[in-house]
Amino acid sequence: MVRTKITVIGGGNVGATTAQRLAEKDFCDVVLVDIVEGMPQGKALDIMQSGPICGYDSRVTGTNNYDETIGSAIVIVTSGLPRKPGMSRDDLLKVNAGIVQEVTRRALTKSPGAILIIVSNPLDAMTYVASKVAAREFGYTPSDIRQKIMGMAGVLDSARFRTFIAMELGVPVSDVDAMTLGGHGDSMVPLVRQATVKGIPVSRLMTPDRIDAIVERTAKGGAEIVSLLKTGSAYYAPSASTVLMVESIVFDKKTVLPCAVLSSGEYQGCEGLFVGLPARLGAAGVEEVLKFDLSGSESAMLLKSAADVKDLCGAVDRLGF
Ligand code: LAC
Repeated sequence: MVRTKITVIGGGNVGATTAQRLAEKDFCDVVLVDIVEGMPQGKALDIMQSGPICGYDSRVTGTNNYDETIGSAIVIVTSGLPRKPGMSRDDLLKVNAGIVQEVTRRALTKSPGAILIIVSNPLDAMTYVASKVAAREFGYTPSDIRQKIMGMAGVLDSARFRTFIAMELGVPVSDVDAMTLGGHGDSMVPLVRQATVKGIPVSRLMTPDRIDAIVERTAKGGAEIVSLLKTGSAYYAPSASTVLMVESIVFDKKTVLPCAVLSSGEYQGCEGLFVGLPARLGAAGVEEVLKFDLSGSESAMLLKSAADVKDLCGAVDRLGF
């Protein structure tokens, strides 16, 4: 079997950890790209040299040159500045929009038609930036954009939600099912009604106060880590989340994962926006957005979150990207 080629753009903590996790899975060849000379090459060698110890044969190439990325099936974009303490994801908008625009252009030139997974922040707006480049310069149709361009955030936010529920109740995370929809910002929507432990709604297992505290901690989960690390943002869970999406696509698993996808009106207020919605990921990329009835308050929260994403996308447009 030919190994799938996967490019990871950005050799910082998120990108390098994603490359490492992919290499350890041993099903693909990984190209790690960064503008800093020597850095992606050094990290790639280091990851390759773990192969004899960990037992994988993945080829990992580090490069400053997009020629090495030719023919990638999936391109993961992690480039951009991370947040510093006190910064919101939105503060990153302008500088990261320029970076995401440029790297998307370079990557698609070498791998036309690739599936793109955007990880850079502010997530939903950066996914929109990538979609604009794909449509304008590479002929992606609306259906291509819907299938092939997605952002990683919902898997991460849902993992945080599940972790906090498991910690609170002293149960294994594998018993906890929970999902977060909406944008990857403070107005994200952790769905409490659908959160269960072995099928039991969390509302039967915790007081409303505790649930509210967990919802709040989930929405601020990224900032909590930024304030602890002080020099950057989270990367272990973001990279694990990205790899889960990749596996569902490469192995055509059709896993339902919340991802930032182009909504075509399944949920009120989201139409035409990249917002976190439950998506079935398979070989074609986003194969379906699952639609289900939200309660009135869930709908209102999603509407607000989508409005926040829309504001950011308006800023992207006004800045001329
Ligand atoms: C987080 C940042 C990376 O949620 O957005 O951790």
